[in-house]
Amino acid sequence: MKAVLLTGTGKRYDIVSAFAQHTTVVACDPNPLAPAQYAATVRTSVPMIEDPQYVPALQELCERHDVGAIVPLTDLDIDVLAEARAGGRLPQALVPDPDIARRTYDKHECHLLLQEHGLPSPPTVLPGTEPDAYPVMVKPIHGSGARNIFAAADAREAAFFVDYIDEPVMLQRLMDGPEFSIDCLSDRDGRCLNAIPRTMLESRGGESIKGTVIADAELIDLGRRVVEAFGVRGPATVQAFRDRELGLGITDVNTRFGGAFPAPVYAARPGRSYPELIAAMANGETVEPHVGEFDAGRTFTRYFWQLELDEELRPTGRDIVSPPGPPAPR
Ligand SMILES: Nc1ncnc2c1ncn2[C@@H]1O[C@H](COP(=O)(O)OP(=O)(O)O)[C@@H](O)[C@H]1O
Ligand SMILES: [Mg+2]
Repeated sequence: MKAVLLTGTGKRYDIVSAFAQHTTVVACDPNPLAPAQYAATVRTSVPMIEDPQYVPALQELCERHDVGAIVPLTDLDIDVLAEARAGGRLPQALVPDPDIARRTYDKHECHLLLQEHGLPSPPTVLPGTEPDAYPVMVKPIHGSGARNIFAAADAREAAFFVDYIDEPVMLQRLMDGPEFSIDCLSDRDGRCLNAIPRTMLESRGGESIKGTVIADAELIDLGRRVVEAFGVRGPATVQAFRDRELGLGITDVNTRFGGAFPAPVYAARPGRSYPELIAAMANGETVEPHVGEFDAGRTFTRYFWQLELDEELRPTGRDIVSPPGPPAPR
């Protein structure tokens, strides 16, 4: 079995742990207190992403642990990995081409990209151009985690938020209707393997904490069309609203696991959870597309967990009730 390298593991214990049930997982995060790394087989610190030594450090980890796939868990290093992949330095990286990585990280560019591919995106303008209608959402172009997002009812309110928010923003039609996420997985050739939609019943800080997997054919098709148009490799999450007037509009595309990782794991047919399929891809196996094959109706409700660490920052295995704990060594 080849190993899987996860970067920027942060708090995403569920993801690291799910991978560790199927293969050797190398977790890297510059923060020794990033909790999710404690679910990994190998926990390691790497230079900061901006450091020229970042990619060489990942190359060294790939060599040492026989890594077959690299999966970034945050937006922060996708462009660096995309460049390194395109330049042949990190062929294992499951990331899109650099141009797509750059343009999906910029929400205004992503809007233009969707339009270029004939995919539905709500009317969106940059400050200085008058929107065709209000209300709008004033949202940061490089936003994440629902930071600095405000609804504006008219031009006066929009002008206030444009001035108030301390980063570049855009003005996007406020969508009126339910919001959905579609968790997708693609192979290295950009073929969509599956697209699993879910409702967003409750979100906090940009993370979906309650939701239900649904078999909505229109959303499944939308997810597949987006990831195939963009040539995504590995996981991606497409967010969309179904506006009462405009119909479907895509508001966010993240070429990484979304905030509600467990949903597509619960819904997957046996052997076909995304971590299992990525472990298979890491081994060089071909996975056949099976878009729409999953079990709808699974609901997730999420909560916080924690680990007690000793003086050397090793998990003590002690907790308030029996903890999930690190996986048994393979
Ligand atoms: N055009 C929009 N209309 C209504 N709500 C929106 C719109 N864009 C974003 N939102 C709300 O703000 C949240 C965060 O916005 P999003 O574009 O997903 O950015 P990010 O997740 O990167 O912070 C969304 O989940 C959604 O609830
Ligand atoms: Mg989002």
